[in-house]
Order: sequence, then C-alpha cells, then structure tokens
Amino acid sequence: MSAAATGRDGAAATRRDWVVHPARAPLAGTLAVPGDKSVSHRALMLAALAEGTSTLEGFLEGEDTCATARILQQLGVRVETPEPGMRVVYGAGLHGLRASAAPLDCGNAGTGMRLLAGLLSGQRFDSVLTGDDSLSRRPMGRVIEPLAAMGARIDSRQGLPPLFIHGDQSLRGTRLRTAVASAQVKSAILLAGLYAEGETEVTEPQPTRDYTERMLEAFGWPVRYGPGWAKLDGGHALRARTVRVPADFSSAAFFIVAASLVPGSELRLRGVGLNPRRTGLLEVLRAMGADIRLHSRREEGGEPVADLRVRHAPLHGIEVPLRHVPDMIDEFPVLFVAAALATGRTVVRGAAELRVKESDRIAVMARALAELGVPIEETAEGAVIEGGGELRGGCVDSRGDHRCAMSLAVAALRAAQPVRVSDCANVATSFPGFETQARAAGMVVETAA
Ligand code: S3P
Repeated sequence: MSAAATGRDGAAATRRDWVVHPARAPLAGTLAVPGDKSVSHRALMLAALAEGTSTLEGFLEGEDTCATARILQQLGVRVETPEPGMRVVYGAGLHGLRASAAPLDCGNAGTGMRLLAGLLSGQRFDSVLTGDDSLSRRPMGRVIEPLAAMGARIDSRQGLPPLFIHGDQSLRGTRLRTAVASAQVKSAILLAGLYAEGETEVTEPQPTRDYTERMLEAFGWPVRYGPGWAKLDGGHALRARTVRVPADFSSAAFFIVAASLVPGSELRLRGVGLNPRRTGLLEVLRAMGADIRLHSRREEGGEPVADLRVRHAPLHGIEVPLRHVPDMIDEFPVLFVAAALATGRTVVRGAAELRVKESDRIAVMARALAELGVPIEETAEGAVIEGGGELRGGCVDSRGDHRCAMSLAVAALRAAQPVRVSDCANVATSFPGFETQARAAGMVVETAA
C-alpha cells in the first residue's frame, strides 16, 4: 500500500492526484474488488458484542473499517489480524465494553459514527465520537433525535460532530419512523434497541439496506423485519460466528461502468454482493442498454453473491425511477458519468441525500463534469445531464470524496485528453488498491503528489 494510503493521518496529510489517460484499448480481465464496507462495519460491531470468538473473512482493509476496528480496541475488545482481509474478534459480550479515556476517531466514516452512536448510547460509560473535516460537516441530528426519544443523551455542536454520548441512561423500546431513508439511522436505532427495555420498532419512508437485521439474526438475536421495517426486543445475547464478507457492489460499480463505456471491453468481477437493496444501479444501467450478466449465483454468509460479466454496450439516457434511488445511493457519482457518455438526457430526482455524503456529490460531480464539457444542470435533489457529447481533458477536483474520485477516473477513459483528478487519497477509505486493479484492467492511472 502506498504511503498516502497507510492511515487516516497519512491520507489527511497527503494530497494525492491522479492523471488518468483516455482508453486506447479495451478493458479486459477478471477482478476481485475488496470486501463490502457496510457488512465489514457491522460484522466488527456485532462480533465485539458477541459471546465467543468470531472470524471475519473478506474484511475490507479500508481506512473507514480500520477506524471502527481501532475504536473497538479502544473500548477493550481484542481484535487480531492473522492476515490481510481477516479479523479475529474476541467478543466482550453485550455489557463487556470499557470506557475509553481518549475520543473515538471515526475518520471519514459516517457509517462508523452513526452506528457507534446507537451502540454507545446503551453503555454505562460516556464516550466522545470525532471525525475528519468531511465527517465533522455531516448531519448527526438524524441519529441524535431518535436515540433521544429512546432515552439516550447525546450532545453535539448543533447536530454536527463531535458527539458527546452520556452513559448510564435507561433506554426504552420505542416505535420510531425515520425522517430520511437511511440504513445508518435505522441501524443506530436497532443497535441502541439491543440495550433497551422492551420492543424497538423502526419504519422507513423507503426501504434501505438490511445488513444490520440480517447480521443480528445470523448472530442469534431474534429480529423481525421486512422491506422498510424492523423490530427487536432488548435483553438477548449475540453468539460469535464466522462472517464471510462479499465483494462490495459499490466498488464493483466503477468497473461495471468503465467496461460499459470503453468499446470492445469485457470485464469479469468475482463474488460481488447483490443484496437487492444495493443493486439499483444494475437495473438502471440495464435500462440504459448495458450488457451485464450474472454467473454462478449463490449465497455466501446469508447474502446473495454472483460473478459479473460486463461487456461494452452503447448506453442511452434515462429518467432514473424514484424507487431505485435508495438502492443506488452510493452509485450516483458513477451513474452521472455513465449518463454523460450515454446518448440523450438523463434525469435524476429525489436524491437530495447526495448533498450530505462525504461531499455534496451533486455539486462536486456537476462542477467536475461541466469542466470536462458535459452539459449538466444541478437541481435541488438531483441533476439533468445531456449525454453523448465529447468529453475534453483537463483538471477536476474530487474534493476528497472517494467515490467522486473513482467516478472521475472512469470519465477520463472516454475523454479526448488526459484528466487530472485531484485530492484522491481518501479512495483508501473504501477501495484500497483501486489504482492497482484499474491498471490490471488496462486503465492508465499515474499518481502525482
Ligand atoms: C450505509 C448506508 C448509506 C450509504 C453508506 C453506507 C450503511 O448511508 O450511503 O455508504 O452502511 O448503512 P445512509 O444510511 O445515510 O443512506
């Protein structure tokens, strides 16, 4: 791993730019992208609270998930790394965590901070959760308010991190309806619900990824759930287990779009997680004309998984159906790129959540694509993109957002001249080794400090 990707401090201190060259040849080969970020965070947390020793395989060695592992160690949990991509977690039991004198640094990870806010609300001791500059600007009222309704006490800087979580509160099972469709909010409530007296019930305005529910069940906690709702009672126990983490669909997405866009390409992606609450991009790209086939469909660790074969195909614009929005919330930056190179107009609506991700992804992608010559109009909750024109080369700024950086690298494949993408060090938060895999597929990516 490069110096820029060795840890949060390194990444924060280093500005890393890429110069990505237009594709001169088709992309080809078989890739195994890293483990799923959402599953890795949850597996660590539940293993830490379980009775017994859990093994996590295919664990994402990203800065976000490593920050969560460090925090659990600060809270007294023994976590070992016998080899990269594996963790052995010696569960402390539901009531076995210990206070940390130092603040708990979540780095860039919204998932880490929001889920831990729920989990730590149920402890006897106080905790402080902090994050990097990007995370310090992200809204936490969405977890503070429902957790407060359950009896938690969390102070913040007007809804922004750091979060000061007061321990020793009695949590009450509560019926809650989340204001936004957010798996992080739902999960924070469910994790607090483990410590609550009685039944906790969450309903959502639109169904979101259900990894917390599935994993609680796999660790032996009784939970009832369906699309858009979940219920559990406090006071049970979690039992250690082996978790096999599938490859992250969101990381695969960059290569799915890259292969679709570069003439003559054929890429295979091994063991990709296909939880139906994650694969909205598959439906949308197929509706745009993409050639994506699933092979060897199977179940691993309770999650649907398959190998993907993606071939180049001409794409056309689409009005993205609202029902797919939560199921592809992390894939909009790369969808914007596909839309820029598809013939005709693409319209994205109902995606205001993009404005409060690691960056304001609507603004960052609109500015960068406009810089490359794409006619794109920002709207409050999405964008209108007129695709099919020429992309010119130039300099674009990812604003330190990992998914924008990788999406803009994909856009460069179809530009007339090389594209310099600035501020890419945070790619290591979710996709360590992206550059190596991109080169293996045939992309020309130079790094520049
Ligand atoms: C995540 C949920 C999504 C997603 C994030 C991971 C999770 O966020 O954008 O990358 O693991 O629960 P929201 O819950 O805020 O939509």
